Amino acid sequence: MIIIKNSEEIDKIRKACFIVAKVLEELKGYIKEGLSTKDIEKFIENLIIKMGGIPAFKGYRGYPASACISLNDQVVHGIPSEKVFIKDGDVVSVDVGVIKDGFYGDGAYTYGIGRISEEIKKLLIVTNESLYKGIEKAIAGNRVGDISAAIQNHVESNGFSVVRAFVGHGIGRSLHEDPQIPNFGKEKTGVKLRKGMTIAIEPMVNMGTHEVIILEDGWTAVTKDGSYSAHFEHTIAITDGEPEILTKL
Ligand code: MF3
Ligand code: CO
Repeated sequence: MIIIKNSEEIDKIRKACFIVAKVLEELKGYIKEGLSTKDIEKFIENLIIKMGGIPAFKGYRGYPASACISLNDQVVHGIPSEKVFIKDGDVVSVDVGVIKDGFYGDGAYTYGIGRISEEIKKLLIVTNESLYKGIEKAIAGNRVGDISAAIQNHVESNGFSVVRAFVGHGIGRSLHEDPQIPNFGKEKTGVKLRKGMTIAIEPMVNMGTHEVIILEDGWTAVTKDGSYSAHFEHTIAITDGEPEILTKL
């Protein structure tokens, strides 16, 4: 069931998303070589709470931490650890969810640490661009498949692949609502977009093949071929004009 939000509800989602955006922005100056992924998670948790939010992922379906931190060949849902340290050249994807006044915000950003290769730079740029190509299609009257196809075309025309095993989603009083927003698909197919829909669009892009494996912890998704992966996510609202990016400062 797709839940259409009124302007008061969107305002609450906007407030949750503001905290997400602030956290992802602050991390640009914080994440450094030598920190553990647990240090990064603590920083995130403290900032969310300081801003009056609740970390949304902690306890969600048993997930044990306040953010997902996925390094290099980890695609999504990496669990922060005090034994894993950031190194020069790492690709660090951070996914943050916040609850504020009963509504969720969800966003992700991938940080390249220190000296990263040209190919990794391209992976980060193309993944982020693909998110914006999808957002451009998030217009009332278009269909979910228009978003999906725009993302897939941009990624594949740059020689990378789109992860199939995880998708974007509606968001509101729950972290995951209908409809699903795949990062692959065909134009002019799927659910029609309407004003008042709020959705999280989140391309996950691999340098090699799209296949992923889940590690024994039951959460961490890694690329099957060991290639690098990137993840960018925004929560947006469908309006009667341009989409509004809620997880943007
Ligand atoms: N952005 C991811 C999603 O929307 C984060 C969920 S992680 C979990 O699915 F820990 F909360 F499960
Ligand atoms: Co999400």
